[in-house]
Amino acid sequence: MLRLEKVNAFYGHIQALHEVSLEVAEGEIVCLIGANGAGKTTTLMSIMGVVSTPQGKILFEGEDITGRPTPSIVHKGISCVPEGRRIFPQLTVMENLDMGFYPRRDRPAEFEEDLERVFRLFPVLEERKDQLGGTLSGGQQQMLALARGLMARPKLLLLDEPSLGLAPLLVEQVMESIVEINKQGTTVLLVEQNALMALEISHRGYVLETGTITISGESGKLMADAQVRSSYLGT
Ligand SMILES: Nc1ncnc2c1ncn2[C@@H]1O[C@H](COP(=O)(O)OP(=O)(O)OP(=O)(O)O)[C@@H](O)[C@H]1O
Ligand SMILES: [Mg+2]
Repeated sequence: MLRLEKVNAFYGHIQALHEVSLEVAEGEIVCLIGANGAGKTTTLMSIMGVVSTPQGKILFEGEDITGRPTPSIVHKGISCVPEGRRIFPQLTVMENLDMGFYPRRDRPAEFEEDLERVFRLFPVLEERKDQLGGTLSGGQQQMLALARGLMARPKLLLLDEPSLGLAPLLVEQVMESIVEINKQGTTVLLVEQNALMALEISHRGYVLETGTITISGESGKLMADAQVRSSYLGT
């Protein structure tokens, strides 16, 4: 479904990604793990066309989307739940979800159906649908960010550190909801510093170190890998 071929990305003169190649097949959860500053967010922003990738190729469903404007990438079926959630704090839960529906505003008849789907996944959002986004708890804001991403009905969902700043119990809830979203048919590329959780719920994984993919494979194998264990799992 998604293929990155030797993607380089730069901020001015600083090269943040060095020939990053990775693949996500339809139906998979693939995780991308790595330390602070490794280039995880840059990878997602490159896919979304936010960071320019002067070298390399990004293919989605076989089509070259490198350098395309972000709205057209969203329209093709990729949504991103950004790092730090970035919900609209001054808008209500409903209004935030409405914003997520924006790319599909030409199909108003489907709004209710999508809303029901995200409320089934996250009942707390229905209870709090008139509350301002900024007054939700951190965990509720993460659920809202996920729900807003789903309102675009993406084929591929990019998630940037959904567990960040959440208590362990909530981390588990969010991870369970990602598994459920995947079971319902959405392919997921999951960026996480919480390597253990990410490897537990994903099919395959990639390790990114200072802009370079160093290790990749089935998640179970990565969990058993000595280098992954000592550097990312603390064992
Ligand atoms: N807007 C920017 N301008 C200049 N350098 C940037 C910019 N954004 C990121 N970088 C640099 O690019 C590198 C990769 O950053 P990136 O945000 O992709 O890392 P990350 O893996 O997502 O880290 P974290 O786990 O802390 O979120 C870092 O060295 C960072 O300082
Ligand atoms: Mg990041």
